[in-house]
Amino acid sequence: MRNSIPEMTLNDGLTLPVIGLGTYKLKGNEGVAAIQSAIDMGYRLLDSAYNYENEGTVGEAVRRSSVPRSELRITSKLPGRYQEYDKAVTAIQESIYRANLDYYDLYLIHWPNPIQDKYVEAWQALIDAKKWGLIRSIGVCNFLPEHIERLEQETGVIPSINQIELHPFFNQEEQRKYHEEKSIATESWSPFTRGFKDLQIDTLQTIAERHSKSIPQIVLRWHYQLGAISIPKSASPARQLENISIFDFSLNETEMGMISQLTRTDGRIANQDPAVYEEF
Ligand SMILES: NC(=O)c1ccc[n+]([C@@H]2O[C@H](COP(=O)([O-])OP(=O)(O)OC[C@H]3O[C@@H](n4cnc5c(N)ncnc54)[C@H](OP(=O)(O)O)[C@@H]3O)[C@@H](O)[C@H]2O)c1
Repeated sequence: MRNSIPEMTLNDGLTLPVIGLGTYKLKGNEGVAAIQSAIDMGYRLLDSAYNYENEGTVGEAVRRSSVPRSELRITSKLPGRYQEYDKAVTAIQESIYRANLDYYDLYLIHWPNPIQDKYVEAWQALIDAKKWGLIRSIGVCNFLPEHIERLEQETGVIPSINQIELHPFFNQEEQRKYHEEKSIATESWSPFTRGFKDLQIDTLQTIAERHSKSIPQIVLRWHYQLGAISIPKSASPARQLENISIFDFSLNETEMGMISQLTRTDGRIANQDPAVYEEF
């Protein structure tokens, strides 16, 4: 069964579905089966990363699926340890070999690592890889406005997308406003706070009952109405289907506000503030 997911257009013209599949921890045969199931169901955007060590799994699922490559949007990410220009170029080539693909639709710098301070040369490598046809669209993850300003000032090229931690406990209001001003798409990682447990609270339960939907569906609808692309991970076909069945109802302004108000300044899942946190 094919479910249709609405699309949005990035500032460079590439279209992306508003829900994709997170693939962190989806690896090996079970990972291929889970990703294949998602593609069969209608998922067209797959999020992976060099550091998830599953680009091969994603590539295999793509090859086994009957969906034309041109209809899929496949993402990977550059690790912090490869942010020097030459290393970044080699890592992008390696990502392509690992997935056995000809190109990625989206390639992102995984973290800015501002203390290491190499993200501008990494960005130049992504710009060049796009020119060489290895990547269709280039973006970043976890970049604060000050990091994006530097990319723009030093290379003249602005990211198409910024993938950031975004969920009801950390709604990123200011960062989203900045993206809007710059025409950068917002993509939400860990849209469920990495697990469903913390979302089982009265506010969300009440809204879910009102709409005869589940809490995960309410949360994903909130992301969608905020204008963000979300990439929920699920290994289960039933939950994958649940997670894209959110286009037949809407939340009103009061409900949107009630969810946004769950945000706390210390609401990050693991205190990974990109101003100081670094990942390699
Ligand atoms: N750029 C970055 O720095 C960054 C950081 C973190 C994550 N990411 C990306 O974002 C993706 C999503 O984030 P995440 O994997 O951390 O967490 P998440 O998507 O917020 O949550 C995944 C968890 O929720 C469960 N789940 C999914 N759908 C459910 C449903 N309908 N009902 C109940 N439980 C459900 C999954 O279990 P089952 O699998 O058993 O369904 C899994 O345990 C990642 O996979 C990765 O691709 C990027």
